[in-house]
Amino acid sequence: MNIEVISGAVTDIVCDAIIIGLFEGEQPSGTTRVIDKALQQHVSEIIRDMPGCGKYGETTIIHTFGAIGAKRIILLGLGKESEISVDKVRALMAVAMRAARKINSQTVATAIHNESDKLEANLTAQAVIEGTIMGSYQFTYYKTSKKDNPGIEKVIIIENDTANMDVIKSKVHEGKIIAESVNLARDLVNHPAQYMTPTKMASHAMQIAEEYGFELTILEKEDMQQKGMGALLAVAQGSIEPPKLIVLKYEGNPDSQETIALVGKAITFDSGGISIKPSQKMDEMKGDMAGGAAVLGAMMALGQLRPKVNIIAVVPCAENMPSGSAFRPGDILTSLSGKTIEVLSTDAEGRLILADAVTYAKQLNATKIVDLATLTGACVIGLGTIYSGVLTNNQEWCQTVIDAGQIIGEKMWELPNDTEYLEQIKSSIADLKNTGGRYAGTITAGLFIGEFAAKTPWVHIDIAGTSDAEKDKGYNLKGGTGVGVRTLVQLMKMLEKS
Ligand code: BES
Ligand code: MN
Ligand code: ZN
Repeated sequence: MNIEVISGAVTDIVCDAIIIGLFEGEQPSGTTRVIDKALQQHVSEIIRDMPGCGKYGETTIIHTFGAIGAKRIILLGLGKESEISVDKVRALMAVAMRAARKINSQTVATAIHNESDKLEANLTAQAVIEGTIMGSYQFTYYKTSKKDNPGIEKVIIIENDTANMDVIKSKVHEGKIIAESVNLARDLVNHPAQYMTPTKMASHAMQIAEEYGFELTILEKEDMQQKGMGALLAVAQGSIEPPKLIVLKYEGNPDSQETIALVGKAITFDSGGISIKPSQKMDEMKGDMAGGAAVLGAMMALGQLRPKVNIIAVVPCAENMPSGSAFRPGDILTSLSGKTIEVLSTDAEGRLILADAVTYAKQLNATKIVDLATLTGACVIGLGTIYSGVLTNNQEWCQTVIDAGQIIGEKMWELPNDTEYLEQIKSSIADLKNTGGRYAGTITAGLFIGEFAAKTPWVHIDIAGTSDAEKDKGYNLKGGTGVGVRTLVQLMKMLEKS
């Protein structure tokens, strides 16, 4: 998708469709008013006839018959002005772009980022592009008959504040980079497990490393054996797919001692192993690598934005399968940290691979850790699909992560981390056991990983409920959402400034 920022009269812009906004219960203002005038108050008349067209997410197509440069207008309901937010603009743009695609528009213009004083124009311009690119996402890899509709080829952002032009242009550029990285993460999630094996994850990481000049290390099974990654190896041992541990390094600030580890769970398929899952919805477990996908997506963006921070991405990849060689309930594993783990369920595998990944990140001198994982069904029950669950051992670091998400519209809710919960994961025969029972399942799973982070500031984000969408909604389409990419990118930008 080609994106242009230009200045000029909105009525003169030649395009297939121009998106203009309307707040619920309000008269046309800004761009909408200028266009209303050019159309001899026809827009006002339509609003009078159909008062619902200002409702949040409503789209109304108006043909202009040559009255202005745009062939059609997409009147976009913005909802109540008092409730507008940057993230709502992101979602609204996605809806509008899908409406534009439906009517075969190839060139689409908009000035929505200047629609309200309540919205900061620069951040909103970025959100407009993010919403556009994320909302136009389609996963057609396995479709044999691609549609004739070529999709939107060009988006024009109209900006008449010439003094602010350069800033808007750079925000638009940033938005494009971030949204395309989100879409990469979605692709990785949407591919079936038969394609997206640990080996394929590693080859995608290799492509990213080559393109953006990251130092790449892939630990093979033999390397893991030699280092003693007993937890990661146990999870992988039932599958014919060999495990991989991906490490990408980016040094953006050589003068700093700080290195941030981004750790992502990548179980390319989670059958549950010997503690096998029920067959219903088991297909969704192809998405159990969404944490790893988010980390790779974030690295793709960071490779282009190049913030002044030091980052290591650590993505443990394995397939969790039942077989004659699979690990079993009752097995006792020795993790890389030396801590021993009693396996009570082979389906609580995410925390096992993350235990070794977090330990390895510390061995690589990480000073702060964030991990993302589709870790627990309990998180989906507790928080649904709106909030990701968060656990931490460091309140300040946690708040920074949650703030980053808040700014870009990924919601996170911190759960309690009282040491009393650790009782549930103490084993009578080993140091830890890998499940703490049904009560507080998200908390005990998170705190299990925390035992390996130990004193290093660490935040865990459980994205089990947020990484996959059941249906199209706003800028998310059915399937992988790419959640976490934008939070991680924003977080790195914030660390650069602090
Ligand atoms: N990958 C699952 C968690 C999951 C469930 C993600 C639903 C997305 C949607 C994880 O490995 C798992 O199986 N967790 C178990 C833990 C239990 C055995 C302690 C769970 O949540 O049931
Ligand atoms: Mn599992
Ligand atoms: Zn899993």
